[in-house]
Amino acid sequence: MEIIRKVEHLRQFVADAKASGKKVGLVPTMGALHAGHISLVNRARRENDLVVVSVFVNPTQFNNAEDLATYPRTEEADCEKLQEAGVDVAFIPSVEEVYPEPDTRVFDLGEVAAVMEGAMRPGHFNGVAQVVSRLFDMVRPDRAYFGEKDFQQIAVIRRMVEIEGFDLEIVDCPICREPDGLAMSSRNTRLTPEQRKVAPVIHRALENSLAWAKDHTLDETKRYVVSEINSFPHMEVEYYEIVDPLTMQPLSDWSEAANSYAVGCVTAYCGKVRLIDNIKYESVN
Ligand code: PAJ
Repeated sequence: MEIIRKVEHLRQFVADAKASGKKVGLVPTMGALHAGHISLVNRARRENDLVVVSVFVNPTQFNNAEDLATYPRTEEADCEKLQEAGVDVAFIPSVEEVYPEPDTRVFDLGEVAAVMEGAMRPGHFNGVAQVVSRLFDMVRPDRAYFGEKDFQQIAVIRRMVEIEGFDLEIVDCPICREPDGLAMSSRNTRLTPEQRKVAPVIHRALENSLAWAKDHTLDETKRYVVSEINSFPHMEVEYYEIVDPLTMQPLSDWSEAANSYAVGCVTAYCGKVRLIDNIKYESVN
């Protein structure tokens, strides 16, 4: 595995591979890698000739300085995991390398970025669009892989691709979970042992709500999920919305689920740790 830190070297390396007809897959990450990230890498490995994984804690997508400062950085362990997964290139640039000058671009991300994470974390999705558009420009991948854990992020990236006119395929990958159902996340390591025991209630409440949804209204289903999660110590739901999977707009009735399914997106605090998860409600209308 090549560890590349300079954009110029990366461009050259990928150009050489493409010149010999290789298909290129990109997996953007912020490091602190876990099995969820590696599932994206494995998929990219199966579907491409050259796999590039970027490891870059992108400052422009953090709207909270403390969150950026405390974001886990584990480069050595990350490289070992990537090597083991058969990655060709780990791209690990500095902030100056990605942003030689401040990125002042404001993307017109529209309705998909206006709700939920977009409403709670102003500027977050613009920062995601900035860094992912830069990575796409540097790597020019044939395919790029993203996890459905960040369901809204995928919609935002699709919108950015449309605006910028990138010619590539965005591949959605399913959520990887711990055995007790908690969605894998770099943030899980910040939970105290007691909080870690409670946190799986998020997924449990979402799962239980699938049966509940069959004979309850959408609003009743939302209230059920929120009260289930909040009934546990340390837990506090920030929002629970059931949305259209393409537009991300909250639905008020199951019959509005135009795409055969709806997605319930939750953000909940467990102590000070902000956790996100989601679930699909199939054939509810
Ligand atoms: P990060 O949180 O490191 O996640 C990198 C990718 O891994 C994202 O596409 C995310 O959805 C996916 N992922 C994380 N946990 C997962 C899980 N449990 N199951 C499946 N996929 C999972 O998301 C980002 O970084 C950044 O916003 C980024 C896109 C890299 C831009 O900076």
